[in-house]
Amino acid sequence: MTTQIDAEAALRPHAEHAFADELAALAAADDRPRPERWRLSPWAIAMYLLGGVLDDGTVISPKYVGPRRIVEVAVSTLATDRALLLLGVPGTAKTWVSEHLAAAVSGDSTLLVQGTAGTPEEAIRYGWNYAELLAHGPSRDALVPSPVMRSMAEGMTARVEELTRIPADVQDTLITILSEKTLPIPELGAEVQAVRGFNLIATANDRDRGVNDLSSALRRRFNTVVLPLPATAEAEVEIVSRRVDQIGRSLQLPELPDGVDEIRRVVQVFRELRDGVTHDGRTKLKSPSGTLSTAEAISVVTGGLALAAHFGDGVLRAGDVAAGILGSVVRDPAADKVVWQEYLETVVRERDGWKDFYRACREVSE
Ligand SMILES: Nc1ncnc2c1ncn2[C@@H]1O[C@H](COP(=O)(O)OP(=O)(O)OP(=O)(O)O)[C@@H](O)[C@H]1O
Ligand SMILES: [Mg+2]
Repeated sequence: MTTQIDAEAALRPHAEHAFADELAALAAADDRPRPERWRLSPWAIAMYLLGGVLDDGTVISPKYVGPRRIVEVAVSTLATDRALLLLGVPGTAKTWVSEHLAAAVSGDSTLLVQGTAGTPEEAIRYGWNYAELLAHGPSRDALVPSPVMRSMAEGMTARVEELTRIPADVQDTLITILSEKTLPIPELGAEVQAVRGFNLIATANDRDRGVNDLSSALRRRFNTVVLPLPATAEAEVEIVSRRVDQIGRSLQLPELPDGVDEIRRVVQVFRELRDGVTHDGRTKLKSPSGTLSTAEAISVVTGGLALAAHFGDGVLRAGDVAAGILGSVVRDPAADKVVWQEYLETVVRERDGWKDFYRACREVSE
């Protein structure tokens, strides 16, 4: 059962609600052929993800910042009989892209199975309403369809998050679904056949490799698209600024004047530590154990904005982001602390115009 709430009041509205205006404008302008049951043509979906301007002047905001080709391959895969696997290190927008693709293709991003070590087969196939089952025996009325079964029946896009965390035998349930496009219900001597429009997007984290590797039989049913880390510091600053702005608005944080200089600094620190070398290439650095992903940079800046807005002087300053950075960098209290101290003393301290940042970091590092 879903409880409908006012989309405006949702703390985190689904993509199809948050960007309903853009999706409607695209649908109205889109005169290219659409695969059966798709809300938009592949061309319009690529524009929805990458951003652009329609003939009538409507601006479509970019959701994904990265190579156009990646988006084109992802969208066109969904129009074939192979499913889509988005792979990448943490924080590379796998979940984000999957949600927006489902919203653009099917108008519904909520047909979702969250993969965990405890995900049972029923979460992918179907379960039973036990009261109904005991009272009347197995019947269609007693059957509780999974999101995947519903997508098959309705020709929609299903999503499976963190596929490689799901135990291997449960993962294998997907093989019949993806190759035969059918889901047998032996208890009823019946099956659900996928109708045109059905496809599936899975995400998996690179770091989980080896936890529950995909079987080669399952892997063959997927077209794999690897999402990279942002190629340049400017691209990463753009991603962080854009998302922080959106999140700030949905959290109703007071508006702050431009914090882009501080955002640039956060991104530079993250990139230098992640790459193990300063941006001028001169000083080699040790990398901390955490991933320092773009997603974490977004949280650090959002946290900083809340501090600045509620307790600061209304400008995002070094002191507002220092604690957040420290929390992201120092995951392992012993080893990472050494890495961080070394970075502070050898790089940050000597850098022109970074005195405020050095002082703020020293204050929280004590
Ligand atoms: N290239 C990018 N373009 C746009 N947004 C990005 C990009 N990279 C990261 N983000 C932002 O980072 C945030 C986190 O992304 P998301 O949760 O989708 O990552 P993920 O790859 O699923 O990570 P995990 O492996 O931890 O599940 C999102 O808010 C997303 O907007
Ligand atoms: Mg994810």
